Amino acid sequence: VDVEATPARPPTAHTAAAVSAARVTLQGQQLVRVNGYWVFDSWAQGVIAMRRGGLVPRATVGDVLLASLPKSGTTWLKALAFATMARRAWPPASPDHPLRRLNPHDCVPLVDSLFAVGRDKLLDELPSPRLMSTHMPLSLLPATVADGSSNTKIIYICRDQKDRLVSVWHFRKRNDLPDLSLQEVYESVCNGTCFAGPVWDHMLEYWRASNADPGRVLFLKYEEVLQHPGNTVRKLAHFVGQPFSNTEEEADVVAEIVKLCSLENLRSQKVNKEGIRDVIIKFSHDSYFRKGMAGDWRNHMTPELGEHLDSILCDKLDGSGLTI
Ligand code: A3P
Repeated sequence: VDVEATPARPPTAHTAAAVSAARVTLQGQQLVRVNGYWVFDSWAQGVIAMRRGGLVPRATVGDVLLASLPKSGTTWLKALAFATMARRAWPPASPDHPLRRLNPHDCVPLVDSLFAVGRDKLLDELPSPRLMSTHMPLSLLPATVADGSSNTKIIYICRDQKDRLVSVWHFRKRNDLPDLSLQEVYESVCNGTCFAGPVWDHMLEYWRASNADPGRVLFLKYEEVLQHPGNTVRKLAHFVGQPFSNTEEEADVVAEIVKLCSLENLRSQKVNKEGIRDVIIKFSHDSYFRKGMAGDWRNHMTPELGEHLDSILCDKLDGSGLTI
């Protein structure tokens, strides 16, 4: 890890206040610190523009924003939220359901990357309530979203960091990103310099907001979704103000949504076997679907390494009530 004292290019007047002087290089990928968080250099300007008023929350029918650190189950959450919120227009059993034709990332746009490539105007065209996603921490979102004064509802998903980092490592390998050893990914999580890290601050911001106002931020854990996907779907529907009716419950709509969004079903769709997602870097659709289990880290890391990361997190999350 190479921490430089000065940025490679001088900050513009627009970014000077928000981009700190720190910069790290992880095997060719530049990360720059924006208000305490590590963001891809190529995303930083867009993220700052988004925060400074580029992303305007809709007032009357609020937006729904899915938030996560990468490899926490974002793709699954996108599918579940989309299928739940669109179920009247698209019953989950319909053969031409969008999730049978499109990758979940094409159903729910990632605002950070749209701002990064200057395609954020697309967000204006989304029907209300807009369903969008972000990998940014709460404090890097527009002020009215961060402070809760807008009508935006946030659904956050977090995951055991050991499994998440193993997933990051596999994802990079499957997409031919510059070689990063598991040890390097591990260290970047432990020392806080991974993308959108420090991970503990990322999780804590959403956790605290969820405790302060559970009607505004729904906090989910990947492992709990794995255990009780149906309960998650009900929770999610209730949270966005679209609870399942008795008729829907009797018709097993919840089970249909869970089935539609299952790893097996999504992975088997032609679009997810062959497609490519272009987020400045190109990612194959199939790389988003791997094992989808809890505890895979044991196949890659020693118990000692696992305990070490757990102890760092235990320390950082101490007193917050959040355990992962
Ligand atoms: P693994 O690599 O551990 O298998 P993200 O969507 O945030 O990029 O996270 C990807 C992780 O979520 C991968 O974890 C992937 O297999 C898992 N995943 C993707 N779709 C899933 C689904 N429908 N159900 C459960 N897990 C899923």
